[in-house]
Amino acid sequence: MTWLITGGAGYIGAHVVRAMSEDGRGVVVLDDLSTGDAARLPAGVPLVTGSTLDRPLLDRVLAEHGVTGVLHIAAKKQVGESVEQPLRYYRENVEGLRTVLEAAVAAGVRSFLLSSSAAVYGMPDVETVTEDTPCLPMSPYGETKLAGEWLVRATGRAHGMGTVALRYFNVAGAATAELGDPGVFNLVPMVFERLAAGLPPRVFGADYPTPDGTCVRDYIHIADVASAHVAAVRRLEADPDGEVRLTLNIGRGEGVSVREMLDAIGRVTGLDTTAETVPRRAGDPARVVASADLIAKELGWTAEHDLESMVSSAWSGWQQRHPGGAG
Ligand code: WQD
Repeated sequence: MTWLITGGAGYIGAHVVRAMSEDGRGVVVLDDLSTGDAARLPAGVPLVTGSTLDRPLLDRVLAEHGVTGVLHIAAKKQVGESVEQPLRYYRENVEGLRTVLEAAVAAGVRSFLLSSSAAVYGMPDVETVTEDTPCLPMSPYGETKLAGEWLVRATGRAHGMGTVALRYFNVAGAATAELGDPGVFNLVPMVFERLAAGLPPRVFGADYPTPDGTCVRDYIHIADVASAHVAAVRRLEADPDGEVRLTLNIGRGEGVSVREMLDAIGRVTGLDTTAETVPRRAGDPARVVASADLIAKELGWTAEHDLESMVSSAWSGWQQRHPGGAG
């Protein structure tokens, strides 16, 4: 079996490519390299540079590589940008997905996995988010992920294709320096950037209804995210009739506040992470923590890495990409 991995040159995609290759699977990557980097791919993994909107290209790749399953990871993922550019987000994330699905059905692909996000839940008013918690996305980004889940499910049902949607919570860390996330829009890299510039990290609001007043999230190591994909692929491969229909959280089920994350970064880096508190960032929910029970039950998967391991891998990757930076 060969798996097409769209977005395979991105931060999450490249970790998934590596985990799939290490598990002995044939993979081919499609990536437009808009944010991806070909250097992240292991030697020998074929890369097709192009768009998920390019149907003739998709037809050719699926046929030439004898693709039997697709991991659709390619997407635009900046929440704020999606508010400014909803048309672009719907085109890339929904129309791009629809085009990949259409090509997959035409090529007789048996299995399809979609990268989804905790953003589908919006501002969940519960301690622990289960897959049954109502989905009320707060941004066009979250909407495109929810619409994508519906589209994948409906297509799987109609065409006998097994489907899994994985809802990532807050992904952090790096398996190796080369595979680290160069993006600076999430808490951990934003703290590193501030420290490198000799500035105190910023806390976006300390007046939330949480134990220490800062927002609580469920951070998960990228290596665990990658192993969850491999577990899902095994399940899909054991489903010749295309009857699997799963939507699963990928999290650790453990809440970590911004302050607790800053403390962990201080311990790992030895730097002073005393922060300045600035006003809340618009649209941030106070608490988003996954229940990881369903994925444990369905796929036998649980996260293995703790917060220290996430922070230390993110830090060593960051340091290697910024020689002479902080620390
Ligand atoms: C985490 C917490 C910030 C930076 C986003 C998307 C989500 C998913 C992951 C794609 C928040 C606080 C941050 C800083 C801070 N993306 N913060 N100081 O917003 O939980 O999730 O990325 O699927 O859909 O919404 O992640 O890392 O941006 O923020 O206090 O310098 O850290 O306010 O409470 P978020 P994040």
